[in-house]
Amino acid sequence: MPDESESVVDWDSLTFSFTKTDRMYLSKCKLGGEWAVGSMMDFEDLVISPAAGVLNYGQGLFEGMKAQRASDGSIVLFRPDRNAKRAQEGALRLGMPPVPEEIFLDAVIKTVRENSRWVPPMGKGALYIRPLLMGSGPILGVAPAPEYTFLVFTSPVGPYFKGGITPTSLRVSERFHRAAPGGSGGVKAIGNYAPGMIPSKMAKKEGYSEIIYLDAVNHRYIEEVGAANFFCVKDGVISTPELTGTILPGVTRASIIELAMARGYEVREEKVDVEYAMSADECFCVGTAAVVSSIGRIQYGERVKEYYSGEVGPVTRELYENLTAIQQKRSPDEFGWIVDVE
Ligand code: PLP
Ligand code: COI
Repeated sequence: MPDESESVVDWDSLTFSFTKTDRMYLSKCKLGGEWAVGSMMDFEDLVISPAAGVLNYGQGLFEGMKAQRASDGSIVLFRPDRNAKRAQEGALRLGMPPVPEEIFLDAVIKTVRENSRWVPPMGKGALYIRPLLMGSGPILGVAPAPEYTFLVFTSPVGPYFKGGITPTSLRVSERFHRAAPGGSGGVKAIGNYAPGMIPSKMAKKEGYSEIIYLDAVNHRYIEEVGAANFFCVKDGVISTPELTGTILPGVTRASIIELAMARGYEVREEKVDVEYAMSADECFCVGTAAVVSSIGRIQYGERVKEYYSGEVGPVTRELYENLTAIQQKRSPDEFGWIVDVE
């Protein structure tokens, strides 16, 4: 174990960036074999074949979860079984052996426990958990690798969008798409992310926080906001893009739908025309990293729509408050979403 006196982060200035923590989990499995419980080790670089399937053909996926300090001092996870299941679906899509749910959950819990000193105080951020599954064995032909590595590492993080709760300014991309029907947009394939880096960087250079992707067929229906799911509210009705296979089925998205319905809202999973969103009363995006982030402004072509004069809208605020209260055990876990780690 590293020296305990090694500096711990300044909790008040956390951003969404990588900080090395103490320990990681690692397990390996042959193609056609079975996953066994892996082992905990000090966080370190990997030794990997230059011919590894993941390096050459992008055969890999990741997950993103958070461990948080709750109001009673415990450390909790939010619906980790959902991430385990999504990783299994992604593994099947990418020709990798799915990690059994028990092994996935055990790995996540052990990694959080052994890095617990990196969990920020309540309300200051979270310990971001990054499970990673990849084809680590060597292969030259475009085919599933002969060996797989499943690992879990962590990093303390602050808000995903600079400015935290301040509503973000987004631009609809008319040039780039994230995913096409039949592709890998519906799973957390590592290869889905690099193509979004330049579009996102270009938008940031122009003062936007992220871009909104439209569907690749009609160039008309909203898909996602970078790495978060989109919602809008009009006349009290909440709409979110339906899952068509090109959108990532977010754990936060599913939770917000359930929560909003339980609070009496009508929630529609449907095609969300960008024009409809431009005429909505409120827009927000959700994700593990993004939590519930208010959208203050959307630029689409030459037009700009401002929501609530750039303030956080009431439905966005209510859902943010309700979700984070459950996540931090400030209100009862009415849906059974919280898992205690420590
Ligand atoms: N969409 C994409 C493309 C993502 O990468 C993520 C992050 O995981 C999300 C949406 C939000 O999903 P979740 O709420 O499960 O974090
Ligand atoms: C998450 O919300 O967990 C994500 O995976 C977003 C990200 C790619 C940083």
